[in-house]
Amino acid sequence: MRKLGNNGKRVAIVYGVRTPFIKSGTLFKNLSAQELGRIATVELINRIEIDPKEIDEVIFGTVIPSPKAPNLAREISLGAGIPSSVPAYTVSRACASANQAITNAAESIMSGNADVVVAGGAESLSDMPVLFSKRFRAFLYDSYKGKNLIQKIKPFLNLHLRDLAPDIPALAEPSTGLTMGESAEKMARENHISREDQDAFAYRSHMLANKATADGVLKKEIIHTLIPPDFSMVANFDNGIRGDTSIEALSKLRPIFDRKYGTVTAANSSPLTDGASSLILMAEEKAKSLGYEPLGYIRSYAYTALSPDDQLLMGPAYATPIALERAGLTLRHIDLVEMHEAFAAQALSNIRAFASKKFAQEKLGRSEPIGEIDMDRFNVYGGSIAIGHPFGATGGRLTITILNELRRRGGNFGLITVCAAGALGMAMVVERE
Ligand SMILES: CC(C)(COP(=O)(O)OP(=O)(O)OC[C@H]1O[C@@H](n2cnc3c(N)ncnc32)[C@H](O)[C@@H]1OP(=O)(O)O)[C@@H](O)C(=O)NCCC(=O)NCCS
Repeated sequence: MRKLGNNGKRVAIVYGVRTPFIKSGTLFKNLSAQELGRIATVELINRIEIDPKEIDEVIFGTVIPSPKAPNLAREISLGAGIPSSVPAYTVSRACASANQAITNAAESIMSGNADVVVAGGAESLSDMPVLFSKRFRAFLYDSYKGKNLIQKIKPFLNLHLRDLAPDIPALAEPSTGLTMGESAEKMARENHISREDQDAFAYRSHMLANKATADGVLKKEIIHTLIPPDFSMVANFDNGIRGDTSIEALSKLRPIFDRKYGTVTAANSSPLTDGASSLILMAEEKAKSLGYEPLGYIRSYAYTALSPDDQLLMGPAYATPIALERAGLTLRHIDLVEMHEAFAAQALSNIRAFASKKFAQEKLGRSEPIGEIDMDRFNVYGGSIAIGHPFGATGGRLTITILNELRRRGGNFGLITVCAAGALGMAMVVERE
């Protein structure tokens, strides 16, 4: 793929908002992904005062969809008052699902199929569907098919108590059986990422996110969200951030995925989170004709995939050099980096791989490393470890934060990069001018 600007219409990211990211099982436990996405999209439309009739398409990402609303995007679109004649569809690329929605929107615009697209992501891990066991589901099916009362009851005569045990979705790779946390442990081990370094990284994430929250820097992107059932309380900041934490407190936590020898803890992992992000993209000329000054533009992007048997969460180190090359840039041109922090072990593994000549030569087939990341430009307001990670929505947060911050500090180029289950990787270069 060539630089997007040369490929077709230039794609503007006009605006974006998100709900606060809220630890699952807390303030948003009575809100579904559909409702969170609707809230974000209504606010988006209101803030930029766009006539919903201008919207050509709606695309949302999610990772664990509700069986009751599998095409989440369509429900969000209808709920947000976008005309029913506007098509909407849902995508999944694990933790890069909102990024996928955004690049699908870009492709719709570049191809000339749409001029204005709403794209984002929503996830409610509080509302995660829990299944019955396969045996119990088979009994339910046989009973449903029964033609009379006896046939409807008969399947249950073989029921054991253990058949009623819930089947909770595991955050594990179907191909390897390893959970995300176990994969992070593997990366910590193989890349020699110490517990101390992981805790220091997590501490940095919390301190930066806490300061940004206290300074009100993230106010622009975060929607005040009324909390059901009585809507008398408002959530307006990310509630997983722990300004009161310390390296000492972090170092005392027990490893969670490998109790005996592990280094990955609840604090140096991203927490289970509920939230949504919603952005609006337009063809540059359309944005101008409607009188908008976009937050920025998409310059390039790349997706990659590795074997899940290898190190699962190394996507950023593989996708970034391709996105940079397509942008005609190097890491030195990049003013800000937003990297999804699934785990400190994953982020540190990628940061080290960026700087490693050995990694470049052996894994990327390149003579030179991607480059050393300047930590003063990296996740400057903390990352998913502190802020939280509603799987399908995080890519939207990274995009909104980097564009707002580029504008605030007068930078031009930003790099967004995400690792995702299935050993997928994503990187995007955005530009303000
Ligand atoms: C890691 C995980 C299992 C932890 O879940 P949990 O046990 O519910 O986590 P909690 O928030 O209750 O934290 C556990 C303990 O650590 C403590 N803790 C967590 N973060 C802390 C911090 N920053 N500072 C100090 N203590 C902290 C909590 O206070 C709690 O202590 P307590 O038991 O005394 O109450 C869960 O967040 C998880 O599965 N995360 C990974 C998600 C994932 O795989 N994402 C995919 C990435 S791509």
